[in-house]
Amino acid sequence: MPGKIIKVTGGQRLRGSVRISGCKNSCLAIMAGSLLAKGPVTLRNVPDISDVHTMTEVIKSLGVYCDFKDNTLVIDATCIPNTHTDYKFVSKMRASFNVLGPVLARCGEATISRPGGCDLGERPIDYHIAGLKKLSANVIDLQSSLEVSHTGLKGTSIFLDRDSVGATEQIMSTACLASGTTRIINASIDPDVIELSRFLQALGANIRVSGKVIEIEGVRELRGTEYNIAFDRIEAGTFAVFGAITKGDIIIKDIIPDHLSSFLLKMKDAGVGIELIDNGDGTDLRVFLNGRPSPTDIFTSPFPGFPTDLMPGFLTLMSVAEGTSVITDTIFVDRFKFIDELKRLGVNVKRNSEQVCMVNGTDALTGADVKSTDLRGGTALIAAALASVGETRIHHIEHILRGYENLTGKLSGLGAETSMIEEA
Ligand code: EPU
Repeated sequence: MPGKIIKVTGGQRLRGSVRISGCKNSCLAIMAGSLLAKGPVTLRNVPDISDVHTMTEVIKSLGVYCDFKDNTLVIDATCIPNTHTDYKFVSKMRASFNVLGPVLARCGEATISRPGGCDLGERPIDYHIAGLKKLSANVIDLQSSLEVSHTGLKGTSIFLDRDSVGATEQIMSTACLASGTTRIINASIDPDVIELSRFLQALGANIRVSGKVIEIEGVRELRGTEYNIAFDRIEAGTFAVFGAITKGDIIIKDIIPDHLSSFLLKMKDAGVGIELIDNGDGTDLRVFLNGRPSPTDIFTSPFPGFPTDLMPGFLTLMSVAEGTSVITDTIFVDRFKFIDELKRLGVNVKRNSEQVCMVNGTDALTGADVKSTDLRGGTALIAAALASVGETRIHHIEHILRGYENLTGKLSGLGAETSMIEEA
């Protein structure tokens, strides 16, 4: 079936400034967390992307009021009439699974379809289930779905084998309405988790973060609030790659440098010019590069490590470096599917194992027809296309539209030759 494609004609050095949208992943977690509040929640700076639209559908399917326009979202979960989340949502977007704990905590029961594998390989939910059980929930695992109920959630200490972002968010949200104190040990301290904790505090939750321990003192009820979604550090990093790979000179407005420190240090190692500019109200990021980048190895790990979501972009930047780089992703078991499409543009990359790739830099990328295999892999294709000679047509862009607001508009504003068109 024909759909939209993104067309890019490479060769333009990007110039000018760009403003980053609200963060997809913290917004999705905060939307799920809004179900904990008995009262209206107003979220501002919400990115207009398809994942947010899917999450509004999930929330509406629970019978909860949810209205999204002009980057503002209102959710009023004073009543949650339905406690079942359907397969059609969970299979489309894994973040839908985050509604489980809040619905359980509010309603005493919840059923949800089990998320399967995804574009990045197998993605288990064992830490989520174990965490809810530790909080005294009853979990019946029906293979294709989960039935969860409780007769009183109780706080306790929970150790996570891995500092999973989603499991930390699920347990932290649920524990807000449990009796007593919950301690999550080896919790994720990813900026998305910290943003969610700030939002929950604005609802009246009692949460303290100390190192990698998150302590939640349960309360009886949470109220509505107004909250501003912070900038998307992955979108900011993606634009930094676009700026560098085109040998451009761009300003990315209003970032929080601490959210991007590992990435920015690795960009510097690669010879990319990185400058933080005080703009009076906050910090702008200038990214510039004249020649080719230097080869640089990366190894992804949980925050404050190098973010897995910026690995595809960085790998692509290394595809034009003067030498060979080793790229290791320790987070997901199958995050390199996109490299086969990059090879169609002339990228010289070889997979050594499921989680390790070697990239030999070249300065001869050429446009071609390619397809996006996942969200971040999709923007890696755009980065390569911007550095290629000739035209690239990127198909299956539904993956890209999940997470980037007005991507071609923002790129055009920086001087890229790109547009989104109907496939013939
Ligand atoms: N894991 C388990 N068991 C669990 C949960 C996780 O074994 O119960 C494993 C995962 O399979 C993975 C590792 O732990 O190997 C880390 O996964 P994590 O739970 O931290 O990831 P997530 O919450 O599923 C979020 C983002 C991802 C981002 C990761 C890591 C959302 C909606 N998704 O996923 O974002 O890559 O954290 O930072 O917040 C993206 O935006 O493109 C994206 C994939």
